[in-house]
Amino acid sequence: MRTLREIDALREALGEFRRRDQRIALVPTMGNLHAGHLALVENARRHAEVVIATIFVNPMQFGPGEDLDAYPRTLEADQAQLEDAGCDLLFAPDPTMLYPRGLAHQTRVCVPEVSEGLCGGDRPGHFDGVATVVSILFNLVQPDAACFGEKDYQQLAVIRKLVTDLHYPIEVIGVPIVRTEDGLALSSRNGYLDADQRRRAPTLYRTLCQARDALEAGAPTATTLDDALARLREAGFAPDYLELRAADLGPVTATTRDAVLLAAARLGPTRLIDNLTLTLP
Ligand code: PAJ
Repeated sequence: MRTLREIDALREALGEFRRRDQRIALVPTMGNLHAGHLALVENARRHAEVVIATIFVNPMQFGPGEDLDAYPRTLEADQAQLEDAGCDLLFAPDPTMLYPRGLAHQTRVCVPEVSEGLCGGDRPGHFDGVATVVSILFNLVQPDAACFGEKDYQQLAVIRKLVTDLHYPIEVIGVPIVRTEDGLALSSRNGYLDADQRRRAPTLYRTLCQARDALEAGAPTATTLDDALARLREAGFAPDYLELRAADLGPVTATTRDAVLLAAARLGPTRLIDNLTLTLP
């Protein structure tokens, strides 16, 4: 697997793939890779002849006071994992490469409606940063397909809308959440948890499972969500939100069947997110 850090070198490599008429799948990441990211690479391999991963801790999607500086940077270990997973090329640019003017970078991509509320409510501007960097990566790589995890459900919805609205000829592939044996969704941020918090962390998933089962059995939404919030607080979480939405993230109406239960909750300083899809009766 080749690692490229410069745009010119990336363009040269892409030219070779295109001359050979090879289908390209892109896997954008911020690094510190785990089995969740590798599931994206495996999916990408099934959809294309060439898999390109990117590692870029995108300053534009971190708010003031968030963990941009602390975010784990583990390039060598990431390269080894990508190589094993069958990735063909890693593009890992420096921030100045994508944003030569740093914070003075002008062009922003916004997908307002789907970015509102949920994580967008707690992290203002976050999804504009995501949509902007993903657009930059799409423009640089021009992949045929791109893989994103369902763990970041709202992010996936933002990217699907972006691809539709900007007419990118890219197939967006959503990949199911990869969890540890005790149910915790894998995340680079799990590394921030101390032993006690790590022991409590799977309660987020278990609580969502319980609420999903209750809602699928016809329990009223308000009391189900209240019970779930109480359970999270008892386990030491500070919930940011717990919401039931239609699968497209619109409001739940009397006719909604395909729905999703989404939560974000903090354990100490660490913010965990998770979601489960469900079918309403
Ligand atoms: P990052 O958090 O590194 O995640 C990269 C991709 O891996 C995302 O599509 C995310 O949904 C997916 N992923 C993370 N944990 C997963 C899990 N447990 N199961 C399945 N997929 C999982 O998300 C980002 O980076 C950034 O916002 C990015 C899209 C790269 C833009 O900067």
